[in-house]
Amino acid sequence: GGFTPLISTIAEISSRPSGAPILVVGIAGGSGSGKTTLAQAIYTALGKEDNVTFISHDSYYKDLSSWTMSERENQNFDHPNSLDTNLLVEHVRQLRSGFPASIPNYDFSTHSRTGEVTVAEPKQVILVEGILIFAEPELTDLLDVKIFVDTESDVRLIRRITRDCQERGRSLDQVLRQYTKTVRPMHIEFVEPSKRQADIIVPVGINSVALSLITDHLKTALANKGGGEMYIKTPFDEVNKEE
Ligand code: CTP
Repeated sequence: GGFTPLISTIAEISSRPSGAPILVVGIAGGSGSGKTTLAQAIYTALGKEDNVTFISHDSYYKDLSSWTMSERENQNFDHPNSLDTNLLVEHVRQLRSGFPASIPNYDFSTHSRTGEVTVAEPKQVILVEGILIFAEPELTDLLDVKIFVDTESDVRLIRRITRDCQERGRSLDQVLRQYTKTVRPMHIEFVEPSKRQADIIVPVGINSVALSLITDHLKTALANKGGGEMYIKTPFDEVNKEE
């Protein structure tokens, strides 16, 4: 009857350690679509590190340090098998239960893990970002809100060229070869169809109407799920503190 969901919600809240996350939000979209920009905007709008933990599926690329450099450069990084999704699933579950998780640090120039980890603390909202997060059912099932950033492929390719040459130690020739050989076909095979899993599809990352629809929804959902009113610091808090 009508009371069952209410009872299960109360049971869920009372079994949750205080400070355990209430919402896990997934942001998917093709390479260079603007997932990070949207994630950062949501992070800022919800009070940054006070309320939000951000994790990227990219941190879970398998370590290829035992491979030769040419083997590494020929790896298909856009296929689900190139990522250790089981570890990410385990970490999201851990955070959800109120425990911190040790996220591996990944180096895109060497295609390997640095050996260091970043500790992610459980916060009210866990933001998870990645091209393939809606293509992995076990992971998708853990996401309470699923956002897909839908950006045209020419715009994505231009961004990817700039970023990979400037930040990931690649040459133009390498970027274009990888795009044609793996990025594009895997996008068509895995990323594009996973759009159907989304709750909301956002055209281009920076879109102020979509951003406020999303953040308003997240605030309401948090309050409804027992998180109470979300406290978001304003610049005035700092001024008041100083007085
Ligand atoms: N990748 C790579 N080399 C590696 C590991 C991953 O080139 N050693 C590439 C994959 O080809 C994949 C991309 O990293 O396409 C995933 O990152 P991307 O989604 O492009 O970057 P984000 O900053 O996470 O997303 P966005 O640009 O949407 O903000």
